[in-house]
Amino acid sequence: MSERSKVVITGFEAKYYDELLNILSLFQYPRFIKRVIFEETDVKNGSNIAELGVGNGRNAILFSQKTGDKGKVVGFDISDDMIEKARKKTQKYPNIEIIKHNILKPYPGKYKNFFDIAFMSFVFHGLEDYEKEKMLENLKVIIKKGAKFYILDYAQTNIENTPFYYRFFIKHLECPLALEFLSYNLDENLKKHGFILTNRHFHFKNLISYSEYTFLPNASK
Ligand SMILES: C[S@@+](CC[C@H](N)C(=O)[O-])C[C@H]1O[C@@H](n2cnc3c(N)ncnc32)[C@H](O)[C@@H]1O
Repeated sequence: MSERSKVVITGFEAKYYDELLNILSLFQYPRFIKRVIFEETDVKNGSNIAELGVGNGRNAILFSQKTGDKGKVVGFDISDDMIEKARKKTQKYPNIEIIKHNILKPYPGKYKNFFDIAFMSFVFHGLEDYEKEKMLENLKVIIKKGAKFYILDYAQTNIENTPFYYRFFIKHLECPLALEFLSYNLDENLKKHGFILTNRHFHFKNLISYSEYTFLPNASK
């Protein structure tokens, strides 16, 4: 992983990840993420869902409730600390599997064409551009044609027009890649890989976006 990134979460941050996120969002995060997954994500009963960078499993549990017993949620993460937390947190959910895996690398063969949905929350911005390419190349192998790819992350915006607290957060507390991500051409770059924007919601004063892409591999040619 790039030294300019802060998205691999370990140690103290991994241990108190939920708590830190709750505090940072002034305790709005639990309600927010439920709304995103239950109201803004097109999960059918029985969908197979991949979460790339599953963290401590909070989102995976919400997805497992939505997809039901016939579906499966597979959470991939590179951090041993996060994997341990996620396995503990999700152990009562038989339709969740937590796998240690670097999403920049090819996935185990059994997942080829397996997923109806891929979900990525606050991971994309922390990848260097060449890593984004690798991540997408590998993702395309494990999702079905017509699958949805959801990205929850910082919205593309002019940083100078954002509130002072957000500017401070992005410039001084986040990694340099996060600042660059604000001017990244997400839709064009995803389109090159066959991911066509089909829906988008904005949150937290338009600073956070939730984008739905549909995987149509031939549409970009
Ligand atoms: C900011 S956290 C977000 C966790 C979770 N998606 C959420 O929204 O609560 C980013 C997560 O992505 C994982 N991650 C970062 N780079 C990764 C990679 N190359 N492969 C797999 N997981 C990665 C980190 O270990 C961490 O758990």
